Amino acid sequence: MSDESGFQRFKGTEGYIASPPLIDAVNCAIALERPLLIKGEPGTGKTLLALHVAEGLGMPMESWYIKSTSKAAEGLYLYDTIQRLNDARFGEGDVQDIRRYIKYGPLGRVFAAEKRHVLLIDEVDKADVEFPNDLLRELDEMRFTVMETREEVAAKERPLVIITSNNEKELPDAFLRRCVFHFIDFPEPDLMREIVDVHHKNLDATLLDQVLIKFYWLRGQRELRKKPSTSELIDWISALLRSGMSAQQVEAHLPFVGTLLKNEQDTEALGQFDESDSQMPTSWSDLGPRYQQ
Ligand SMILES: Nc1ncnc2c1ncn2[C@@H]1O[C@H](COP(=O)(O)OP(=O)(O)OP(=O)(O)O)[C@@H](O)[C@H]1O
Ligand SMILES: [Mg+2]
Repeated sequence: MSDESGFQRFKGTEGYIASPPLIDAVNCAIALERPLLIKGEPGTGKTLLALHVAEGLGMPMESWYIKSTSKAAEGLYLYDTIQRLNDARFGEGDVQDIRRYIKYGPLGRVFAAEKRHVLLIDEVDKADVEFPNDLLRELDEMRFTVMETREEVAAKERPLVIITSNNEKELPDAFLRRCVFHFIDFPEPDLMREIVDVHHKNLDATLLDQVLIKFYWLRGQRELRKKPSTSELIDWISALLRSGMSAQQVEAHLPFVGTLLKNEQDTEALGQFDESDSQMPTSWSDLGPRYQQ
């Protein structure tokens, strides 16, 4: 794609491997000034994306980590009445000056900022069902009034909003209508090699091959309750490197399985496989046609 139009504002960064469709989705969100909604398995780089979009565009960033109790209005500001009461009791500061007790939240700070920000709203699906609709209103309006002081804050520039979801809850259609959406597919081996290279530069090629063969084999086991993710693969490689394991040692069995499997049923199933004298795959062709290299 030529870029005379200036559409391709985000091109990726050295520390984050983004597939071409993901780069397109980021650039669509920038061009349309719409929030970018990112879904995908845990550990596929949803949260990290926001950090690298900010880095790639040279923009400051604010993060808002959503909890089950989060309310959209808290993103704008909180009136810290407890602090004010305490100050009144202990005679500290000027309690008449209510502005001292208004604490902006991430949305409020981004709206009030001089510079355009990237705003990460992480794990939007953790909050209750009203949250996304309330958030929409705040994002559409781009301004708010601090009731207690009657001050109005209006955003000078629309922030680039990146919203992540782990699919715990359905998001309302009205919310989806306003977003650009991208699902981060689990990386295929070639992309995964690039991701690993970001974290473990110049890894021995035979070791990397063995590691990836075992990793994709493990992920292909139907009975697994929780498949290991990209971040767990990176951790596993760190453990292998620190302990000085060779490719041959990884060929024969899976050391440090606790970095990859996170519940006892999965660990037990692997133990039984080991005892059953079945062969672990040692080459890509052992994984079947999907992984023919
Ligand atoms: N595309 C990528 N490029 C570089 N590193 C990556 C990439 N994807 C994942 N990683 C690695 O995986 C780790 C986890 O990424 P991140 O926390 O962004 O995942 P997530 O999708 O937000 O997971 P969760 O749903 O559990 O919050 C990162 O810290 C990084 O080490
Ligand atoms: Mg995350």
